[in-house]
Amino acid sequence: MSDPILEPGQPAIRFVEVCKSFGERTRRHLVLDRVSFSVPRGRTTVIAGGSGQGKSVILKLILGLLRPDSGQVLVGDSDVASLGYKDLQELRMRFGVLFQGAALFDSLTVFENIALPLRERTRLSDGEIHSKVSATLEQLELTGHEDKYPAQLSGGMKKRVGLARALQLEPEVVLFDEPTTGLDPVMTKEIYELFVGTQQRLGYTAVIVSHDIPQIFSLADQIILLNKGELDVFTDASRIPASTKPAIRDFARQVMGQSVSE
Ligand SMILES: Nc1ncnc2c1ncn2[C@@H]1O[C@H](COP(=O)(O)OP(=O)(O)OP(=O)(O)O)[C@@H](O)[C@H]1O
Ligand SMILES: [Mg+2]
Repeated sequence: MSDPILEPGQPAIRFVEVCKSFGERTRRHLVLDRVSFSVPRGRTTVIAGGSGQGKSVILKLILGLLRPDSGQVLVGDSDVASLGYKDLQELRMRFGVLFQGAALFDSLTVFENIALPLRERTRLSDGEIHSKVSATLEQLELTGHEDKYPAQLSGGMKKRVGLARALQLEPEVVLFDEPTTGLDPVMTKEIYELFVGTQQRLGYTAVIVSHDIPQIFSLADQIILLNKGELDVFTDASRIPASTKPAIRDFARQVMGQSVSE
């Protein structure tokens, strides 16, 4: 069988006219209104938008944790909603996911948190796991902290441990949901530099949800903006204020001010 995500020239992920709403018929809240976009392979796509605009919903649709009301979410050439349990599990194995908040296991050390996906999903020996985790610890500047528990770590270190865990299985696609929320500006910059460096080394497709506008734009190959059900895609941040979509122009005015047209 061909490998759908690795197929040359194909986008890694595609949304085709996707609608997603929540709530009862009478109080229906339409979050995504027939949105379409592609995520190119090996590149970084940034999803931005105000709170509650559907950024996390997009990531959950990609992972098959939510289903669209209509339209298609394609990963490679698989329609996520049509996959059975086993295929969906296999598909999820190919993603490295960092949800909002690092979601570390409090009762496990840094080392064990990072080793967990390897223990659960591979047949590597203890020795192999040890050398793989040690290499990651070094890459992420966590060497010396491996025996600590999450409660003993700073916010930035927790994020890095979460990132280390997400990258352990060398995923084809990484989904990061607000990886820098709650971090100071210096740590935020370091985390983004780390993303760029790690991505260049591993070549994964990255989808990053972020509030760090406009700083995040410098590492994006593509920017997806969401506002009031509308979605627009940009490869050049300076074009955002000229969007043909009124809700996106509003968003640019409110959130970005002058900075995007500099
Ligand atoms: N499982 C769910 N059931 C009901 N409503 C939901 C569910 N998931 C999301 N929503 C609603 O969908 C909308 C979009 O939520 P989402 O979590 O995607 O926002 P977001 O853009 O990630 O916001 P934030 O920046 O605050 O994380 C919100 O109004 C939210 O209440
Ligand atoms: Mg969210």
